Amino acid sequence: MKPYYITTAIDYTNAAPHIGHAYEKVLADVMARFQRLSGREVYFLTGVDQHGQKVQKSAEKAGVTPQEFVDGITQHFTSAWETLGIKFDGWAATTDNRHKRVVQAMLQKLHDNGQLYKKAHKGHYSVRQEQFLTDKERSSDGNFGPEWGEVIELEEENWYFRLSDHVEWLKGYIRSHPDFIYPPHRANDVLNALEGKATDLCISRPVERLNWGIPLPFDPRFVNYVWFDALTNYISFGGYLADECGNEGLPKFDAIWPADAQVIGKDILVPPHAIYWMTMLHALGFTDEQMPRLIVHGWWNISGAKISKSLGNVIDPKVLAQTFTADGLRFYLVRDIATGYDSDFSEERILMAYNKELGGGLGNLLNRTLKMANNYRQGKISPGSFDDEACQNVRQVVADAEAAYPVRMNGWEIHLGIEEAMKIVTACNAFIDLTQPFKLAKDEAQAARLDAVLYHLAEALTHVSVLLSPVMPRACAEIQKQLGWLQPEAFRLGDLRWGLLADGHQLGQGTPVFPRVEIAA
Ligand code: MSP
Repeated sequence: MKPYYITTAIDYTNAAPHIGHAYEKVLADVMARFQRLSGREVYFLTGVDQHGQKVQKSAEKAGVTPQEFVDGITQHFTSAWETLGIKFDGWAATTDNRHKRVVQAMLQKLHDNGQLYKKAHKGHYSVRQEQFLTDKERSSDGNFGPEWGEVIELEEENWYFRLSDHVEWLKGYIRSHPDFIYPPHRANDVLNALEGKATDLCISRPVERLNWGIPLPFDPRFVNYVWFDALTNYISFGGYLADECGNEGLPKFDAIWPADAQVIGKDILVPPHAIYWMTMLHALGFTDEQMPRLIVHGWWNISGAKISKSLGNVIDPKVLAQTFTADGLRFYLVRDIATGYDSDFSEERILMAYNKELGGGLGNLLNRTLKMANNYRQGKISPGSFDDEACQNVRQVVADAEAAYPVRMNGWEIHLGIEEAMKIVTACNAFIDLTQPFKLAKDEAQAARLDAVLYHLAEALTHVSVLLSPVMPRACAEIQKQLGWLQPEAFRLGDLRWGLLADGHQLGQGTPVFPRVEIAA
C-alpha cells in the first residue's frame, strides 16, 4: 500500500503561532501517529509560508531583510512544534531553493501550455488581503468592510491563470467524488462559489510592488503571487519534478502522491484549496485519480471571538503546555472539538479536561492499580484462573472499544476515538468500586479473585496506553514505563489482544503522570 501522505496548511510567518495553528498541527500529528500505529507507512509534511507583502512590510518596519525576518519568526514555529511533539517528516519552508525551482518549473510548464496570459486590470485593491476586490466583496451598505483593511484604486498589468478553463471539470469532479472533502457538507460551499461566470486568477505582482516572492521565469519583472507559491508546497516538498529541478532529500513523488489528507482550516477551503489548487493540478495534467483529499477543520475561538493579535486574545501554545504539559494540551485540543466544527477555548474547560479526565480518571486509575498491586503482590501480577461476570465485562468493554476506535479515528472523529479509550478507564474505575480489591486483600479465600482484578486493571490500562498514544505520545510512554510494558516500535493496533502482560509480569512504581494543576481564581 502507498504511504499515507498527510500535509497541513503552511503558516504565515508574520507572527508567532497561536493555539489555532497548534490545533491543526496536533490534529495532523495525531492522525499521522494513528496511521503508523495502524501499520501504514506515513509521510507527514508541514511548514511555513514565508513570502508575501505582509512579510515584506513587517521586515521593512523592523529594519531587517525579509529573510532575516522570516527566519526569526520561523523559529517560533519550529520550537512550538517541538514542544508539542509534532513529529513531521518533511519541512516545507517556501524560501527553500528546492521549492523555488519547482514553482518556476511549474509556471514555465503552464506558460508553455498556454495556461497563462498577461493583461491590464484596474480596480479596487485590498492591501491587507493582497487581492483585487469585486462587487461580490462589498458589504450590504455598498462599501468594502473593515476585514479588507485599506482599499485603494489600482491599475496594473499582471499574469493570469486560465482557471475558468477548468471550472466545468471541477464541478463534475466534486459531484462525482463525495469523499473529496471532509466533512462532506463543505462541498456545497465550493459548488456555490462556482456558480455564475468563472473568472481567471491573477498570479503575479509587479516587482515594484512586491519583491519578496519567486520571480516568474518567463517575465522577471513580476513575482509569483502568494497563493500559487504556497499551494505548490504540497507537491514541491513531495518530490514533484525533483529530477528536472535537481532536488535532493525529498520523497519519490510517484510513491506518495496523491495526498491522503490535506488538513486545512475552513477559511482557506474556498477559494484557495478547493478551487485554485484543484484547477492548478488539473492544468498541470493531474488526473482525477491524482487529486488530493481535503480535510477541513473548524476554528478555535475565544469567548466566541476570533483569535487575533488586534483583539489581544492570542494564546501562546508553549505557555499552555508549561501549565498543562504538552500532552495535556494535545488532549484538550483534539478532545474538545469535533473535526470540521468550531469550538470555544476556555481555561475552565482545559482545566477540567486535564484535572478531571486525565488526572482524576486515567491518572488516578493507574496510580490506584499500581499502588494496590505493589501493596498486595509486590507488583507481580498473574491472570490466574478466576473469572466472573465483572471480569468478563471489563474484557468486553476493551474489545468493544478496540473495534470502534479505528473506525472513529479513520473517520476523523478523533474526539470519539478518545471517548472509546476513555470508556475503558470509566469501566475500570467502576470495576474497582464493584470488586473492592482492598477488602479482597484482607481475605485469603479471595486471593484468586484479587489476582484477577489486579491483572484486569493493569492489562486494560496497557490497552488504553496504546489507544491514546497517538494523542499523548509522551504521557502514554510514561504510563507504559510505570506498567513495566514498553510498546515495541513495531507494535500495531492489530497486535492488541488480551494477554499483553505475561503471567508473573512485574509492574513498576506509580508517580503521577498528570499532576494536578491549581489555578488561582
Ligand atoms: N499561509 C496560509 C495557508 C497556505 S496553505 C498552502 C494561511 N496561513 S495562516 O497562518 O493564516 O493559517 C494557517 C492555518 O491555521 C490555516 O489552516 C488556518 O485555518 C489555521 N488557523 C488559523 N487560525 C485558526 C483558529 N483560530 N483555529 C483553528 N485553525 C486556525 O492561511
